[in-house]
Amino acid sequence: MTSTFPRYSRIAGTGSYLPPRRLSNAELAAELAARGIETSDEWIVERTGIRARHFAAPDVGSSDLGVAAARQALEAAGCSASDIDLIIVATSTPDMVFPSTAALVQQKLGVHGCPAFDVQAVCSGFVYALTVADSMIRAGSARRALVIGAEVFSRILDFNDRTTCVLFGDGAGAVVLEASETPGVVATELHADGRHVGILCVPGHVSGGQVLGDPLLKMDGQAVFKLAVGVLEEVARSVLGKAGRGAEEIDWLIPHQANIRIMQGTARKLKLPMGKVIVTVDQHGNTSAASIPLALDHGVRSGRIARGDTLMLEGVGGGFTWGAVLLDF
Ligand code: UT7
Repeated sequence: MTSTFPRYSRIAGTGSYLPPRRLSNAELAAELAARGIETSDEWIVERTGIRARHFAAPDVGSSDLGVAAARQALEAAGCSASDIDLIIVATSTPDMVFPSTAALVQQKLGVHGCPAFDVQAVCSGFVYALTVADSMIRAGSARRALVIGAEVFSRILDFNDRTTCVLFGDGAGAVVLEASETPGVVATELHADGRHVGILCVPGHVSGGQVLGDPLLKMDGQAVFKLAVGVLEEVARSVLGKAGRGAEEIDWLIPHQANIRIMQGTARKLKLPMGKVIVTVDQHGNTSAASIPLALDHGVRSGRIARGDTLMLEGVGGGFTWGAVLLDF
């Protein structure tokens, strides 16, 4: 008996959006100096590779950034919002406690009825959302999905903590993922380890009409760094194994854009030259769930990533969460 379900999902188009307000390291350092916080362009570049980040205006939410990225992805895919039958937004900085940012995106795109929900896996969020969309398409529950990573991390930064506030920025990236008889997404793998909840978190919560606890980001950078380098190699090898492919078959590694040194470490372990790694962390800092689709779209629009290329997308972040998606573009 032949299955009526599609064998694969494939990326039909990509898009991204960065809010216009761009702060170089020097500009941010000057703003922080006015608060008595000392940092420098030299420290930030040397330790992270970040040169600038974008901050959204106060009245702009993750849904707005996500919609802008989604419109680009729809155009690149040659379809309209009404062709979409599933919307998933990966975000840890939703516009509201509820409804979901995905429901707000749906409303702003002017389409109604299709399922729309958020995935919360912090910096691994896009890899989680892509995996869920791929599974739903292959199960026959959707044919064309909008998968978005969108964040306004500037809202949860403690600008009195130089160890974190220089690292993050705002932005969004999106893909249209559609049913296909040819690959497409080849293999995926997701992980979480709740033992490490405390090393990267925003511990506050809303209760009785008030924010209780600390609503700003806390990170043990060194602990995150150490875990990240280990799990990113492990999950890449595992996904390659599932697909029966070798690391040398990867045309482009598109890792979470948090720190150039983590990306260099992962590439070294996989014996990939840095020329095969898409790096955009210098331009926008760590945009959490938005960073992988931002880097992907940048690689596509700059002409480096071509149709047929094999891509390894890798996320890692709070939870502790991590995962990878291997796909033929
Ligand atoms: O998105 C989820 C994934 N997140 C990540 O992947 C982040 C992973 N971690 C990292 O990227 C790095 O650990 C950081 C970039 C956060 C920190 O780099 P590091 O090389 O681990 O620096 P460190 O924490 O060991 O700090 C070294 C020094 C310290 O001074 P002392 O104690 O040596 O005198 C810090 O106080 O650098 C100091 N420092 C700074 N100096 C200037 C920390 N932040 C700053 C700063 N400017 N912004």
